[in-house]
Amino acid sequence: MDKLIYLDNGATSFPKPQEVYEFMDRFYRNFGVNPGRSGYDLCLEAGAVVEETRKMLTRFFNGTDPNRLCFAYNSTDALNLIIFGLLQKGDHAVTTTLEHNSVLRPLYHLWKYQGVEVDHVPFDRRGFVDPDDFPKRFKPNTRLVVVNHASNVIGTVQPIKEIGRYCRERGIPLAIDASQSAGKIPIDIEKMAVDLVAFTGHKSLLGPTGIGGLYVREGIEIRHTRAGGTGVRSAQRMHLDEYPYRLEYGTPNTIGIAGLQAGFKWIEKQGLESIQEHEMRLTAKLRDGLKDLDGVVLYVQEDLTDHISILLFNVDGLEASDTATMLDVDHSIACRSGLHCAPLVHEQLGTDKIHGAVRFGIGPFNTEDQIETAIHAVREIAEFQKRKKDRTR
Ligand SMILES: Cc1ncc(COP(=O)(O)O)c(C=O)c1O
Repeated sequence: MDKLIYLDNGATSFPKPQEVYEFMDRFYRNFGVNPGRSGYDLCLEAGAVVEETRKMLTRFFNGTDPNRLCFAYNSTDALNLIIFGLLQKGDHAVTTTLEHNSVLRPLYHLWKYQGVEVDHVPFDRRGFVDPDDFPKRFKPNTRLVVVNHASNVIGTVQPIKEIGRYCRERGIPLAIDASQSAGKIPIDIEKMAVDLVAFTGHKSLLGPTGIGGLYVREGIEIRHTRAGGTGVRSAQRMHLDEYPYRLEYGTPNTIGIAGLQAGFKWIEKQGLESIQEHEMRLTAKLRDGLKDLDGVVLYVQEDLTDHISILLFNVDGLEASDTATMLDVDHSIACRSGLHCAPLVHEQLGTDKIHGAVRFGIGPFNTEDQIETAIHAVREIAEFQKRKKDRTR
């Protein structure tokens, strides 16, 4: 375990800061009751952790009202609430080919079962969408634009501010999928003209799995797609309209929220910029080490401006899954191969024909030594593959 080099931080961050484990343990042992349901002290204290976390994340996104920060299971859950709650029969949506299935599939479902039209804006050869492509696709019935802020496959950070400006001009809500970006780069919904942010707790925010949520800007009202207990106004027949109850259903994941708070506090203590600087220094080192290796194909990563710490590559002639297995078995390096739940990115890159690619995702606890080991491991695999190819010639 000590030897394991974990480069799968795009899937989930691991390990978490020590403070996350400690706070979750302490919180659940001392305050593991149902918050907001009763008036006794423990209940109020558990509720206070929930509300404090709402406030922290609202500040982080530069929102104005903590009640509009609603907790959900993860970003998939948040994106489902947004997409099914804002679109209906007769509507049109614009999205991109960079999206994760947590956006693509809800949209496909709406297309299939309700005839919602969907346009996908492609990315260019550097991995960015062109903001000018968005207004060209707007129609009178466009009701939502949804964009992956930072690609989980190629790591590029999209020009949200410019897209947001076009959306504001037309009064179309803009939702961003901040699954990868929240906790890595600043997200200011005012500056970026964003209306909805979907985030997940277990990736860059360094919390546990099973917690995420969304921030909903004032003026955007998401229709209820679920209903249930809220712990308040129990006599009311219909699910509550006011936020956060509007989008929260049943007992919240309090231990998850506590862990998310501890992860977020750790990020604040280290400083977002210093974490990003560390991760991008390692990413540049990895990119430099891989880019000139014979038989290694790096995708889209020439320039690391507007980028997070994700690198995609393949070893020529090897299935991505075989490369990942060799990295795991021979070098104790954990990474992710395949389509990364974002099939359209691979279709555009052409890597869908070869069952995807290998992704390295660097996190705050990775070190220079680990990156050197990873470069060395990929070199060995590429050389092995070349020797094999030469022998069969
Ligand atoms: C860009 C992006 N969107 C959405 C998701 C879904 O996140 P979760 O599984 O936490 O809902 C992921 C996770 O891989 C992702 O990278």
